[in-house]
Amino acid sequence: TTGGLADTLGKKVYVVGGFVRDLLLNRENFDIDFVIEGDGISFAERLNETLSGTLMTHKEFGTASITLANGSVLDIVSARREYYEYPAALPTVEKSSIWNDLFRRDFTINCMAIQINIANFGKLIDFFGGLEDIRNKRIRVLYNLSFIEDPTRIFRAIRFASRLDFEIEEQTKSFIMEAIKDHMLTKVTNDRVREEMAQIFTDKGVSKSIFLMKSFNIFTAIHSDLNITNETITKIDNLWSTIEKFHRFDNKKIDIQLLVIMQLFHSFPLNKLSEAIQKFLNNKQGIVNIQIALKEKEKVYTSLLKDDIDKYTIYSILHNHCLESLIFYYNDCTEYYIKHYIMYYMINLKNIKLKVTGRDLLNLGIQPGPIYKKILDTILKSKVMGEIYDEHDEIEYANKL
Ligand code: CTP
Repeated sequence: TTGGLADTLGKKVYVVGGFVRDLLLNRENFDIDFVIEGDGISFAERLNETLSGTLMTHKEFGTASITLANGSVLDIVSARREYYEYPAALPTVEKSSIWNDLFRRDFTINCMAIQINIANFGKLIDFFGGLEDIRNKRIRVLYNLSFIEDPTRIFRAIRFASRLDFEIEEQTKSFIMEAIKDHMLTKVTNDRVREEMAQIFTDKGVSKSIFLMKSFNIFTAIHSDLNITNETITKIDNLWSTIEKFHRFDNKKIDIQLLVIMQLFHSFPLNKLSEAIQKFLNNKQGIVNIQIALKEKEKVYTSLLKDDIDKYTIYSILHNHCLESLIFYYNDCTEYYIKHYIMYYMINLKNIKLKVTGRDLLNLGIQPGPIYKKILDTILKSKVMGEIYDEHDEIEYANKL
């Protein structure tokens, strides 16, 4: 449809960037970026007459997007004619607008286009060696000032290297190091840093990203006390298999970002915690949950290691903690017994709830007051200990108390 429409209008049209990269890597990507050598907005309007999606236009940028019923998003932009002042070493011949559009992008693997006009359908446009870099699994910038012009690309290089299991090419690495040494990261707003971290922390390749961030001294650039050890990286690497274990017993959605941050900060000085976490997360409830987990963890570990532990003690120690905290404790501690008790709680105790309510106690003729809590706690304890099982038992037990 798109190619045919472009032919009708006599314009060249391409799919570009991430979609082309993922197509060549045989990876799913439902967001397609189109570049048209002409007016992107009127092209999008015409295209949507056929596609009947939801069209949004941004006149000031000359861009438009169409969201299709299946959730895919098509972004349509006009090819840019000029962007930065180019380094002098580049050839001076007049460049096509697709060349200019691709040249302003970040890495060679993201700088390819596929023409979709009917006559040239499927023609790969690769001016900068992207295909070769995909074959060699390399992240490479196009020119030396790339990270100076846009320091968020430092995080993107790390993210793509981890997600695709590629290596950052040596010269690109040294450009990153120079940019960090020149304090370029201080030019990235806190919000942008947090957005990039959210993407890095929720990707399966997070431990490799953290290794790379450590090797570029990014953590200490973000907060001087944040010294990440290899042990921390191993623990973050273990998070995925730990999560899988917990998923067998609780299929609630797990906030992986919280877990990664808990693990990153596992031995951070508690008095500086609040200020430091905010560099990574801007979500009040999330920050509170992380702080509680980190403040409570030693107490949880020592309580679980006491000799006289029984089911109700395990229950009492763990039942006020959120699922992410439990997963974090399990993943963070090195003691077999602690892990064992946490898993025991997940499998056997976590879902124990009382059926009997205050109304039942009233029906039994017990006068309301603080006694209710005492009775309910006693019944709960017996239930956790396995002495009573169902609602009938509970009421009978209440009657005896
Ligand atoms: N881009 C860039 N510099 C940036 C951000 C983006 O050059 N700081 C370019 C890249 O060419 C990228 C395209 O814009 O391919 C689209 O960006 P984005 O949607 O953020 O990334 P994708 O490559 O599509 O990757 P993802 O799969 O993570 O969405």
